[in-house]
Amino acid sequence: MRDKIVAGNWKMNKNMEETEALLAEVSAKLPDTDAKVMVSPTFVNLASAVNQLESSSIEVIAQNMHFAESGAYTGEISADMLLNIGINTVILGHSERRAYFGETDEILKKKVKAALAKKMTVMFCFGEELNDRKSGNHFKVVESQLKNALFGLDAKSWSSIILAYEPVWAIGTGETASPEQAQEMHAFIRKTIATAFTKNIADNVSILYGGSVKPSNAEEIFSKPDVDGGLIGGAALVADDFIAIVKAI
Ligand code: 13P
Repeated sequence: MRDKIVAGNWKMNKNMEETEALLAEVSAKLPDTDAKVMVSPTFVNLASAVNQLESSSIEVIAQNMHFAESGAYTGEISADMLLNIGINTVILGHSERRAYFGETDEILKKKVKAALAKKMTVMFCFGEELNDRKSGNHFKVVESQLKNALFGLDAKSWSSIILAYEPVWAIGTGETASPEQAQEMHAFIRKTIATAFTKNIADNVSILYGGSVKPSNAEEIFSKPDVDGGLIGGAALVADDFIAIVKAI
């Protein structure tokens, strides 16, 4: 049985007081759920978020990390630093990291390897751009993103991987992939993993959808058989919206 997951990627939003207030509201309103609920505030607020949610089932996760153990990498954060403050899961490969910070498949491969070597869980993001979809290349692009960063992994690493398919054209645009488009791609991803590894691995990896998920569309997207939850941006910044999305799963 694969995990159902709803994760909030807060990106570069919320200062310390706002983070505390949003976490307090989300944890107070959290419904009883079998789904794993995760939140990802900015780096500067991660340690206090972990402390604040100590007795909550909500997991605090990081938005990024560097692949090196330590050293002269100004502005970067290592896996050990995250583990040291109680963070065990890291988002890697977000399209904003790829687009604005030059993260290539090659860099992401190193980051994934580094995180797994430290026994962290990786939430690996990928997805095509609008021109890829328009030209009918979306399956090819997604397959190559997966292949380049993840297909060198050994089979047992897959229990520490969560996938998040986020079509770039649906992120922050208000335009969501239709539930059918999401299901079609998620089924393709699962089939691609089954071919490269095993059916068992493919059946057990959680594949989240991300891109303009809102309370109004979450239930329909989550109802699709290969969609195991969502990675939520904008709607995760409003407690009632995030909670409604958690309830939708
Ligand atoms: P939005 O939900 O704001 O479209 O963002 C999705 C996302 O990028 C989550 O990582």
